[in-house]
Amino acid sequence: MEVAVKEPEFRLLRVDVASDGVAHVVLDDPSEPVNTISEELGAEMRRLWARLKADPAVRSILISSGKKGNFVAGAKLEMIQRVQDAKEAEALSRTAQDMFDEIAASEKPVVVAIDGAALGGGLELALACHYRLASLARHTKLGLPETQLGLIPGAGGTQRLPRLIGIARALDLILTGRQVDARRALRMGLVDEAVPEPLLLQVARERARALGEGRPPRPGRGEGFRPPTAAELRELALERNPIGRRILFSQARKQALEKSRGHYPAIPAAIEAVETGIEQGYERGLAREAELFGELAVTDVSRNLVRLFFAQTALKKATGVADSNVRPKEVRSVAMLGAGLMGGGIAYVTSAIAGIPVRFKEKDAEGLGRGFAYVRRVLDDRVRRKRITPVEREEVMARITGTTRYDGFSNVDLVIEAVFEDLELKHRVIREIEEVIREDCILASNTSTIPITRLAEASRRPENVVGMHYFSPVEKMPLLEVIRGKKTGDSAVATAVALGKAQGKTVIVVNDGPGFYTSRILAPYMMEAAWLLAEGGDIAQIDEAMRDWGFPVGPFTLLDEVGIDVGASVTRTMVEAFGERMLPPDAFERVVADGRKGRKNKKGFYRYGGKRKEVDESIYDLLGSRTRKRFSREEIQERLYLQMCNEAALCLQEGILQEPRDGDVGAVFGLGFPPFRGGPFRWMDALGPQEVVRRLRIYEERIGHRFRPAQLLVDMAREGRRFFSD
Ligand code: NAI
Repeated sequence: MEVAVKEPEFRLLRVDVASDGVAHVVLDDPSEPVNTISEELGAEMRRLWARLKADPAVRSILISSGKKGNFVAGAKLEMIQRVQDAKEAEALSRTAQDMFDEIAASEKPVVVAIDGAALGGGLELALACHYRLASLARHTKLGLPETQLGLIPGAGGTQRLPRLIGIARALDLILTGRQVDARRALRMGLVDEAVPEPLLLQVARERARALGEGRPPRPGRGEGFRPPTAAELRELALERNPIGRRILFSQARKQALEKSRGHYPAIPAAIEAVETGIEQGYERGLAREAELFGELAVTDVSRNLVRLFFAQTALKKATGVADSNVRPKEVRSVAMLGAGLMGGGIAYVTSAIAGIPVRFKEKDAEGLGRGFAYVRRVLDDRVRRKRITPVEREEVMARITGTTRYDGFSNVDLVIEAVFEDLELKHRVIREIEEVIREDCILASNTSTIPITRLAEASRRPENVVGMHYFSPVEKMPLLEVIRGKKTGDSAVATAVALGKAQGKTVIVVNDGPGFYTSRILAPYMMEAAWLLAEGGDIAQIDEAMRDWGFPVGPFTLLDEVGIDVGASVTRTMVEAFGERMLPPDAFERVVADGRKGRKNKKGFYRYGGKRKEVDESIYDLLGSRTRKRFSREEIQERLYLQMCNEAALCLQEGILQEPRDGDVGAVFGLGFPPFRGGPFRWMDALGPQEVVRRLRIYEERIGHRFRPAQLLVDMAREGRRFFSD
């Protein structure tokens, strides 16, 4: 007898109709670790829907995910990146809207059980269902992060969300891209029930059955439920009246403009989509949403943000070494030398995020106390914001121990040193550490400028010495720059990369040199600001110009935060390595000599302690005169970004960077380079290397040598090449 092998009808989903009338649809993309909303899924859903509609045995539908800890991560971004024009992107949005409308219009009730990330299109799918349950597991996160990619929710999200949870809250979620857990989602009405993970499917099924039989479900009003407060009721009342709404939308626009400085068109677009839907009705709202989605999808801003997202994803998978046989060593314990600002932060991400025990070593008990206090402060803040429980805080604290000698170092797998930035001191501690650690223990340094190869000169096992350059504040800054010294072995690099990823960082690997990549490109940028100041520039104007260009803070604010003394020591290293072109103006030396260290001693470019942030005018006396000259904004911006970009090109030319992608990620996530510009290399591509060289030459002629374009740029300009092909 011949048996016909039937092709499975669906690739991305499974369906099972049980005798209780509940059709259970499980989303499970077999080729990917997470589910995404794609055209293929849309087509399968449509076919499935037709079938479920026609099947008399089906009374209600339950949707869940087959991926552990992940519901639907969002729309498939490759699909959006492929579109050629706005119309094509608009059509994608329309298709998704239609599909979700069909779900919403289904006469058979649709229940959705969310466990794990329900983001973007994933949450929009859930919004179209009639009853939502979310698991209380930590990995459950709901949100609409589209604006962070320069897009807006394009599958009905800008229409359904405000109708469900109110305009102000919907705008907050959409404009910030914030993600909320099940408890918060329940409180704001985003889901109907929050259920412990092991019970999720069972409870969801009961709800589906009840709804299928025409009985409204009676949720147990699980954890996190509370009635609305008086303030919330007032907010809703405001939203019900047209004048109140007009105020609300205009305030949202004003705030958004202040924050985005007009660089992120998705922000006003999202507000417009929501407003259109509220004022002109659902259908008009949907049409506007799709139109705006289409326009945004093809902007440079969105393309750059999506590329950065892809670069981060690729780096998450990378091991940091070319040899695929190299495996990172398992790190079960870390010793932290120096419990200062950086040591404290690194101890936090190691113990709390990576879950690895940490042993502090400090000069004295006071130093140790500072380290413990730092971690505790970060944890306290997380407890206050209900991100972790007090018990979890104590669990983390219990992983941290301290010593003022080196006891306990003999069995750690990796040591990170973050003592003062002083070569002799660092050499001394490396020798001391090697007396006590195991032969295979990896020795990482958090130096921000000293070449790892030079540090390793004090080591008997330079193959185990690697740079792990974190950024301050460590618990907030997403980047880790791993540095491979001349003699650093693959195993040390791979281990440092794996540890960084476990600590939640985006990790780039660069080759060694003074300042590596990030500090190196920051130095001439900061120096140029100092030159503008020496030429009579105005501190507030220079800072403002760079914020306007898209940096989160201006160079002088940054220097005050980092420490002017730290800046001075970086400068010395850079001048020693690169000579005259990194030389600061004399005026900078006068500022340093005046004992100004920035925020930490409340004496810097700005005044501290007052209510408003104000330039400390007395600093101008050191520079000759309080009368300041105003440069054109373009000149300030151009001189600063040209310095940074040209230095980045030099890093690529010299092999400090392995590829431009790493340079873009490093500048954006380590230094705050404007993400919508994609990073220094994407930005140079956008201008075109020819134009970059032309602008550099103008300043080279007018100001001098330090603007001489990198040879790589000159060659690229001549040959008409670019850094990226896409
Ligand atoms: P910090 O002054 O806050 O901390 C240094 C700590 O090392 C102090 O607590 C000191 O008591 C301790 N220490 C000194 N000698 C020691 C020894 N022999 N044994 C044990 N502990 C000792 O300095 P910070 O800012 O944490 O910098 C540390 C390192 O991190 C430096 O190499 C710096 O260049 C680097 N770095 C700093 C960044 C920043 O933004 N502050 C950013 C990236 C790297």
